[in-house]
Amino acid sequence: HRAQTLTSVCLFFFFLRVKQTELFDRWKSLQICKWEMNVTAANLFKSTLSRCCNAPAFLFTTQKNTPLGTKLKYEVDTSGIFHINQEIFRMFPKDMPYYRSQFKKCAVVGNGGILKNSRCGREINSADFVFRCNLPPISEKYTVDVGVKTDVVTVNPSIITERFHKLEKWRKPFYDVLQVYENASVLLPAFYNTRNTDVSIRVKYVLDDFESQQAVYYFHPQYLINVSRYWLGQGVRAKRISTGLILVTAALELCEEVHLFGFWAFPMNPSGIFITHHYYDNVKPRPGFHAMPSEIFNFLHMHSKGILRVHTGTCSCC
Ligand SMILES: *[C@@H]1O[C@H](CO)[C@@H](O)[C@H](O)[C@H]1NC(C)=O
Ligand SMILES: *[C@@H]1O[C@H](CO)[C@@H](O)[C@H](O)[C@H]1NC(C)=O
Ligand SMILES: *[C@@H]1O[C@H](CO)[C@@H](O)[C@H](O)[C@H]1NC(C)=O
Repeated sequence: HRAQTLTSVCLFFFFLRVKQTELFDRWKSLQICKWEMNVTAANLFKSTLSRCCNAPAFLFTTQKNTPLGTKLKYEVDTSGIFHINQEIFRMFPKDMPYYRSQFKKCAVVGNGGILKNSRCGREINSADFVFRCNLPPISEKYTVDVGVKTDVVTVNPSIITERFHKLEKWRKPFYDVLQVYENASVLLPAFYNTRNTDVSIRVKYVLDDFESQQAVYYFHPQYLINVSRYWLGQGVRAKRISTGLILVTAALELCEEVHLFGFWAFPMNPSGIFITHHYYDNVKPRPGFHAMPSEIFNFLHMHSKGILRVHTGTCSCC
């Protein structure tokens, strides 16, 4: 009974966009109740997502959803078109490698400073499938808090441009960074805008040249458009929704149970103690680009409904 009262109170306050301290108090009281998945609510949400977005068919460009000769529209450069020629077509997987509710328990790892000293590494490693964003460090120094298991890791092409000279020079430093994630598939927004395409395709050449077993996948631009539109309808207004939100959205369709780690958009943890921006550094993002607090509100709301679970404290598993 207590859980239900807290939940409705929380929902009310999340929608009112209360002061941060108020929100923290509500969030802390919600932690007293044991989180349980609400299968009915989760399935309702999954069916909404399969209607708008359909990750099991459209998350990546595949030979099936993007046939040879397709004039693929970019996500943001709407006048831009990429002609799918033989060479690019052969890079695509025949079909989506994942299907609906394939994985029992998934972890989506954001890179927030909230993960520091969380000791959540073992719990993250125990998930059946782990998503990570933007090539985060997972060296020994961090593994207690963030784990090592990685099944999909996204790469933001701006990292390739800034840290690896667009892969126009030596490629081994980039290859070495990817090696750390072992078998993880590498996921890039190649068709987000025209600037991203060449560097993203070069990642495939690099991994092939080094005879890596790691797969390279590209987000389908229409999937990104539909996911952005869906979240815009839920009040997430940003120049661009974050990679984290895209991965969480995909995970909700591909996994039975979705756990979020490292997602918290505030300068303090729920107890009011200041935290760094990322678990590995304190570099602030470009202001106004993402709407992180609004994304987090949605996650906390979904947590309170039992659709997914947001971890913001320390872990004691497993
Ligand atoms: C689970 O979710 C459904 C649909 O949102 C709701 O009707 C039901 O009351 C929830 N069950 C519990 C135990 O909260
Ligand atoms: C994305 O949205 C468009 C336009 O509403 C729709 O035609 C299309 O089927 C959607 N894509 C998926 C994968 O559902
Ligand atoms: C990598 O893949 C191989 C073969 O599929 C598997 O045996 C191994 O455990 C995987 N390594 C990691 C770290 O997941």
